[in-house]
Amino acid sequence: MTELPSLDEIAFGEVLAMSLSTPTTHGTHGLHRFPAKFVPQIPRWALREFSHPGALVVDPFVGSGTTLVEALRYPVRAIGIDLDPLACAIARAKADVPNLEDVRLAWSRVIARWPHVPVPANVPMSGVDNPGHWFSEGARSELDGLFRAIEAVEMNARTRAFLHVAVSSVLRRVSNADDQSMKTYVSHTNPKDPPAVRAIVGKSVDRAIAGLASLENMRNSRAEMPRVLHADARELPIESSSVDLMITSPPYLDSVDYQYNLMAEYFWLGPLVGAESRDDFNLLRRQATGAKNPLSETLHVPKSVAGLLSAEHVPHDRWRSTVSYLQDLDTHLAEAARCLKRHGIYVMVVGNSGSRNGEVPLHDCLTRMAASRGLSLEHAFGYRVRRHYMKFPRKGRGGIILVDWVLVFRRVMDATPSPDRLPLLGWTLPPDAVAN
Ligand SMILES: C[S@@+](CC[C@H](N)C(=O)[O-])C[C@H]1O[C@@H](n2cnc3c(N)ncnc32)[C@H](O)[C@@H]1O
Repeated sequence: MTELPSLDEIAFGEVLAMSLSTPTTHGTHGLHRFPAKFVPQIPRWALREFSHPGALVVDPFVGSGTTLVEALRYPVRAIGIDLDPLACAIARAKADVPNLEDVRLAWSRVIARWPHVPVPANVPMSGVDNPGHWFSEGARSELDGLFRAIEAVEMNARTRAFLHVAVSSVLRRVSNADDQSMKTYVSHTNPKDPPAVRAIVGKSVDRAIAGLASLENMRNSRAEMPRVLHADARELPIESSSVDLMITSPPYLDSVDYQYNLMAEYFWLGPLVGAESRDDFNLLRRQATGAKNPLSETLHVPKSVAGLLSAEHVPHDRWRSTVSYLQDLDTHLAEAARCLKRHGIYVMVVGNSGSRNGEVPLHDCLTRMAASRGLSLEHAFGYRVRRHYMKFPRKGRGGIILVDWVLVFRRVMDATPSPDRLPLLGWTLPPDAVAN
C-alpha cells in the first residue's frame, strides 16, 4: 500500500507494510537532509483522519517540518516547535515559505555576485579546532564567498533564510565527511573526493526552487502559513485547551544525536541561527530530550512507569539518559494534555521499542505516562516501509527499516487504565521483508 487505510480498517496491534516506490520528496519535503524524519504519509494520514477546517494542529518535536508541509494540504492552522535552532530553520524553509519569484530573482543575483577568486577562509562557527579536517581549503573559500554573496544581495528575510537552507543542503556532500552515514565523520578507510561547491550547488538550489513551485500546487487555498517556534516541548508556548490535534515523532532514546548528525551544516549555519560557537553547539546536544549525556541533575523515574523499569535491566551507563528521557517525555505529556482541547487527539510515532538492547519497553512507558496525564490510548498499530529507490546496502538490509509504532491518544478527563503491556513488543522482520 502507498497510503495508510482509515483508522477503522486498521486492527489494534497490526503491522502494515507501506511501499514507497517513489522518493518522498515532493513539494519541499526533500529540501534538506534530516535524521529520523518520518514519512509524509504519517502526518498526512493523521490530518486526514483527525483534522477539520480551522483546526489548530501542533507538532511539538517538529524536526525538519514534515508535519507542517503536509498541513499545507488542509485548511488548518499549524504550529511546529523544536529546541534545535537548525531544525527550526529547516522547517521554516520548507513550510513557512518565501515567494517563488523573490527566490528566483535573489538566487540569480547571488550567482552573479559570487566571487570567482578563491580567498582562504575558515568555517564561521568559532571554536572549531580543525576546519581543514572537515572542509578542504577550496570548499571553505567557495562557501565563504557564497554565504557572503547571499548577505550582500538585497532580499527579504524569508528569502534569505530559504537560500541559507538550500545552500546548506550541499554542505555534507562538499565536506570531507562520509556521505553514507548519518553521523558526521571523516572515514580514513573510505576516503572521499568531494565535488567542488560550484559544480553542484546550482543544481541543488534549482531543485529547491522547483520544490517550492510544486508546493504551490499541493497547497490548500485555505491553509494558513504554518508557524515554527524555537521552544521546548517540556514547556509549550501554547494556550491551554486550544489544540485540536498533535502529531509528532519524539526523539529516540539516546540513539540519534541530531546536532552531531548535522555538524557540517552547523559549522556554517550555526552562527546564523544562534549557535555561535562549539560550546553553544555542545550545550544544545545536552539540552535535547534523548541526549546521551543529559544536563538534568535531579533524576527520578516517573511514578507511572516505576514498575516497568528497573535499574538492573538498563545498562549502568545508560541509566541517567534513560531516566532523564522518560522524565522529559512525562513532563511533555502533561504539557500536551494541558494544551489539547477536551477530546483532542495526539498521534505519536515511536521507533521500534526504543533502546539498543531492547530493555526499555518504550511504548508501554509512554502509554502509561500518557494515561496518568489524561491521555487515553485509543489505537496502536505499526508500519514498516520499503524504500525501493534506495539502492545502497545498509548492513546487508538494503533500504529497510524497522517498525515504527503509531500511538493514538485522546484527551479525556479520566484516562482509562490501558493494558499493562501493549501487544506490540518482540515483533521481528520476516525474511521477505528484507529488500535488496
Ligand atoms: C524524531 S525528530 C522529529 C523528526 C520530524 N518528525 C521530521 O519528520 O523531520 C525529533 C526532534 O525533536 C527535537 N527535540 C529534542 N528535544 C526537544 C525538546 N525538549 N523540545 C522540542 N524539541 C525537541 C529534536 O531537535 C528533533 O528535531
